[in-house]
Amino acid sequence: MAIERTLSIIKPDAVEKNHIGDILAVFQGAGLKIRALKMIQLSDAQAKAFYAVHAERPFYGELVEFMTRGPVVVTWLEGENAVAAHRELMGATNPAEAAEGTIRKRFAASIGENACHGSDSVENGIIETNFFFASSDAL
Ligand code: CMP
Repeated sequence: MAIERTLSIIKPDAVEKNHIGDILAVFQGAGLKIRALKMIQLSDAQAKAFYAVHAERPFYGELVEFMTRGPVVVTWLEGENAVAAHRELMGATNPAEAAEGTIRKRFAASIGENACHGSDSVENGIIETNFFFASSDAL
């Protein structure tokens, strides 16, 4: 299996509920390596650009509003098969469908406020980590 990188965003709902440490502990417990990490407040323009692929979806406005509601924690994760491993740890997008023990099952309230984001492909793992980090940020 290849070493991959993936972007995690701990979303405003999980930050508000003090779950940053709980979620990072899940990543580290699974052996994913944190290469870079920061807490930031997304601007409207950043949130719109990051989620541009969803621009035509009916929930786009709500998604941008939610993602700019408060700080988020963005993390560059790396490891073997990291994209799929991270997605498995998060669980289904809709917490009502997420498997027991997953991050979204434990910490998310709804499909809109779903605690975390993860890259959905190896290609997007590279694009999305580059969206928030310079290569020189990785330690
Ligand atoms: P995320 O993995 O960040 O990628 C896109 C986000 O859009 C997704 O998580 C959800 O938070 C959000 N989303 C997807 N479907 C819906 C929906 N039907 N209603 C509201 N938000 C949604």
